[in-house]
Amino acid sequence: MLNPLRSLFATSKILRTLNKHRRILGVAIFNYALLHVICFLVKRGGIMASLKWIKHPIILPGFIAFLIFIPLALTSNKFSLKHLKFPKWKKLHTKAYIAEWGIFIHMILWGGDTATYGLLFFMPLFILQGIHRYKRKQQEKAKVPMATTVTA
Ligand code: HEM
Repeated sequence: MLNPLRSLFATSKILRTLNKHRRILGVAIFNYALLHVICFLVKRGGIMASLKWIKHPIILPGFIAFLIFIPLALTSNKFSLKHLKFPKWKKLHTKAYIAEWGIFIHMILWGGDTATYGLLFFMPLFILQGIHRYKRKQQEKAKVPMATTVTA
């Protein structure tokens, strides 16, 4: 969310500060997800009793998102960035977009207030990301040299 917002409001101090702490924000989201899953496991009477719920269409997207979050949280540090090298690290962290869709579907399928909050939060996010991707494609196109026309 931060990248698209920053491309629209490049001079915003709040966004610059948030961007400085983006890794800690990501880890905070993971901690929320972890607590959420622990509460679920406790409420359902442990891991074994919860297993049957994983395939449920509402739970499955949340579970996939949670699985994606694990390597992302574990590699949200300078050590991993240094050892994985930036392109590999970046490729791994773009999986956050899949997790984002997982959570969106998870919230929508619950219906009621949860679905409303899902729409309120994710719609602006998807719109911003769409604008950001469009702008980036335009910039890339502008950088590519014009194709040379071959005449007979
Ligand atoms: C194994 C993975 C997951 C399971 C089993 C699970 C389970 C649940 C359950 C049972 C609810 C309904 C809670 C209620 O009505 O009281 C719920 C709601 C919700 N889930 Fe998940 N969830 C999982 C993953 C995630 C992840 C990764 C996120 C996002 C970080 C997430 C975000 C939410 C949100 C925002 C709600 C609605 C708010 C709430 O009622 O707590 N879930 N989930």
